[in-house]
Amino acid sequence: MAAPGAERECAEAELCADSQGGSGVKVVPPSEAAAPAPLCPHGPTLLFVKVSQGKEETRRFYACSACRDRKDCNFFQWEDEKLSGARLAARECHNRRGRPPLSRLQCVERYLRFIQLPLTQRKFCESCQQLLLPDDWGVHGEHQVVGDVSVTQLRRPSQLLYPLENKKANAQYLFSERTCQFLVGLLSTLGFRRVLCVGTPRLHELIRLTTSGGKKSNLKSLLLDIDFRYSQFYMEDSFCHYNMFNHHFFDGKPALEVCRAFLQEDKGDGVIMVTDPPFGGLVEPLAITFKKLIGMWKEGQSQDDSQQEMPIFWIFPYFLEARICQFFPSFCMLDYQPGSTVAFAITVLSHIIHVRALKTAALFVVNWITNAVLALTSAPRRKPTKLSESRSKEKVIR
Ligand SMILES: C[S@@+](CC[C@H](N)C(=O)[O-])C[C@H]1O[C@@H](n2cnc3c(N)ncnc32)[C@H](O)[C@@H]1O
Ligand SMILES: [Zn+2]
Ligand SMILES: [Zn+2]
Repeated sequence: MAAPGAERECAEAELCADSQGGSGVKVVPPSEAAAPAPLCPHGPTLLFVKVSQGKEETRRFYACSACRDRKDCNFFQWEDEKLSGARLAARECHNRRGRPPLSRLQCVERYLRFIQLPLTQRKFCESCQQLLLPDDWGVHGEHQVVGDVSVTQLRRPSQLLYPLENKKANAQYLFSERTCQFLVGLLSTLGFRRVLCVGTPRLHELIRLTTSGGKKSNLKSLLLDIDFRYSQFYMEDSFCHYNMFNHHFFDGKPALEVCRAFLQEDKGDGVIMVTDPPFGGLVEPLAITFKKLIGMWKEGQSQDDSQQEMPIFWIFPYFLEARICQFFPSFCMLDYQPGSTVAFAITVLSHIIHVRALKTAALFVVNWITNAVLALTSAPRRKPTKLSESRSKEKVIR
């Protein structure tokens, strides 16, 4: 029988439809699961339930949190299934094989050796998407290799690496230079000092570039992303290999502590999170993750600030506004209106939309910074859409 996990590709649309008598697959919140989730190479799996004409099936199943296509990760297990010792061992072995070839520490050591090399010896294998040390050259002899990798190129890994466009896993749609410049300027003007970049590698590198170039920006940035290739370019304090659909740090506690320290520095003052997840991702697991990150930030706050909300910019399809507001009632959507001459819409969202070739992008921000953003950008502010309206838009788009 085909695993129901294979049908998750339009899960969010289906999830919204289910209470109206629709069919699809829905995530079961971890708090409602009876046991800890089994692991796939992408960390703890998620528990799903199939919904047929508004009714949940009784048998629930675990599937990968990060990959919405079984070709990328074919993990499947019924919730009540008992696995033999041999199958558990085979799974453990499979998970080990799915881990990155190098540890985080090895990546850092390689990077430090790489930057010591003279320019003529700094090579990058395009076929393997890897920085090469002289010992590696033999193995990559027949591959597509570029030489003379400059410091500027090392600081812009998103230009050296090819974007992983697989829509059902990475969906790496990068911001244009202008969008990034605009966002960096906006964040700086709003007075933020630290940016937690969740799935925004290009924004991360521009922030670092702006700071290191002595261009008066004192923004710091930490990138959390599932794309392991970025490990080659950053030290441990600026990149964590991370899955935003289950809050999994692939390098365990030390990486989690890097994130915690970043969020809690200066008692959490001056932090904003900017996130641009794959548009096919489910809102609920993202919301659970973001609440965990918010929780970490809150732990570092003093008592007086306990009512404060962590500032967040979340770029996501506009038709999911009602879903997002279910989890974050204080979020406000800054809308893109076609034909509008509003500076913000033109300079930012139209670029995001072009880059992503989807006319669906919107920016969600925590309510209390809305006025500041609006004052700076003249972005239009809309009334929240009713759930029923957003559902009908969703159907049209899909
Ligand atoms: C739509 S792109 C956003 C890129 C952004 N516009 C930029 O230019 O910086 C999505 C990003 O999320 C990352 N990503 C995809 N799935 C992820 C996951 N499960 N956990 C963490 N990051 C993920 C991708 O590698 C990619 O960098
Ligand atoms: Zn997986
Ligand atoms: Zn190679």
